[in-house]
Amino acid sequence: MKEQILTCLSPGYPWKEQLQCFLEVDSTNDRLKQLAAQGAPHGTVLIADRQTGGHGRRGRTFLSPAGMGIYLSILLRPDCAPGELMHLTCATAIAMCGAVEQAAGFRPGIKWTNDLVYGRKKLGGILTELGLTSQGKVDFAIIGIGINCCQREDDFAPEIREIAGSLAMASGQEISRAKVAAAMMEALEKMDAALLTKKDAMLAQYRRDCITIGREISLLRGDQVRHGRALDVDDNGALVVAFADGSVEAVNSGEVSVRGMYGYL
Ligand code: BTN
Repeated sequence: MKEQILTCLSPGYPWKEQLQCFLEVDSTNDRLKQLAAQGAPHGTVLIADRQTGGHGRRGRTFLSPAGMGIYLSILLRPDCAPGELMHLTCATAIAMCGAVEQAAGFRPGIKWTNDLVYGRKKLGGILTELGLTSQGKVDFAIIGIGINCCQREDDFAPEIREIAGSLAMASGQEISRAKVAAAMMEALEKMDAALLTKKDAMLAQYRRDCITIGREISLLRGDQVRHGRALDVDDNGALVVAFADGSVEAVNSGEVSVRGMYGYL
């Protein structure tokens, strides 16, 4: 796989030496966290053919079967305070929309904040984790991305067939995982270069790609459910919601479901 990915990368890609590919790991994010603690450099990328403990936000499992998806984590070491990276997941999401567009010929949408979607189905997700120095600055950011590439409907367990999709299903074409991985790496490198200087443009693109804006949503926090309509995404990447009780709030925590997606009717 590594050789195929290297062949697909453009000559100017600067982090070729920092690509590590594994047949199997528990989680590329967890493995990369260990490497970060040992001093791994900015731009290190781990890709696994299969993950035994792939996970997403809220400790949810991210199913990562061999040969079906791209399970990739990248280590960045931006010189900034954590508050300057509020838009990191949004910036990654639009970068991944661009990578999919390039490698699979269609642009997915984004379900706020970190799901790549097509139609009613989830194609992939993003898990961003920060490590801080003792002075409270950013020591590292690890961004993990999982994208379902080659699955056909039957490859998903019956209980998730309603909500899970892949690039092959969405495009109706064979997908080259090496091409997808290379497009992701190049998009992440460009995203990193613009991360601290092009925040406004990134959030403007995020708002265009975000399918949640304008939709009826429900917000689950603890055991409390509130209903409302998503109005916008603010400059910190929070979802601005008009709730049924008349209040308008910027939401940055809790589980947001979009009516019409993932089986929420
Ligand atoms: C989500 O859907 O909430 C995010 C899923 C993120 C999955 C990716 S796969 C590569 C990296 N390793 C992990 O364990 N998680 C991320």
